[in-house]
Amino acid sequence: MKLKIGIFDSGIGGITVLHQALRSLPKEDYLYFADVDHVPYGTKGKEEIVGYVDDAIGFMVEKNVKAIVVACNTATSVAIGYLRGKYGIPILGMEPAVKPAVRKNNGKRVMVIATPVTLREEKLKNLLTEVDERHVVDLLPLPRLVPFAERGEFNTPEVEAYLAAEFSRYCLGDYSALVLGCTHFNYFKDTFRKLFSPDVDLIDGCSGTS
Ligand code: DGL
Repeated sequence: MKLKIGIFDSGIGGITVLHQALRSLPKEDYLYFADVDHVPYGTKGKEEIVGYVDDAIGFMVEKNVKAIVVACNTATSVAIGYLRGKYGIPILGMEPAVKPAVRKNNGKRVMVIATPVTLREEKLKNLLTEVDERHVVDLLPLPRLVPFAERGEFNTPEVEAYLAAEFSRYCLGDYSALVLGCTHFNYFKDTFRKLFSPDVDLIDGCSGTS
């Protein structure tokens, strides 16, 4: 029997990672798990999220996948160490692509948007200590985007008003890159593009993961 690669997210965000995986590894078979009963994760407590992720990964392991991609920055930030210690197959995680964004920032600032959990966890703090020596990175939680995405709302007037209000505290001309630190946010690229000028890079974590 050909073993599959498991791809996991709280909802539809990881489909953007599956899309990239299908391009990079088209001959593989995939099993996709969306924890739609518990989405969104990014505004919940750490223990609760670890429990949901553990259940989902346990289910996929029972289906005999050969490797799993946790296609969710939030789940990765709270559970990846635990999962790797518990399960005996390769488990890949995701983190906001801060490194490439800081590396080519051209003296400008970098904005990282993600869920509140991802932004406050130790994992991102450690990454920033490592790569943001010049303190050019700003962090902006956007908790409402995941529910918008799950409802299929990517560019409605409500989404546009929410983003305009959240970004209004920043001078967007100061930025060289917007790092999409949540896989659900990939669906809003066209809406972000309306707010940021064409020379601002929108950087997701999809290609770095696969
Ligand atoms: N796609 C998840 C991420 O990358 C969304 C988490 C959530 O459910 O809030 O963080």
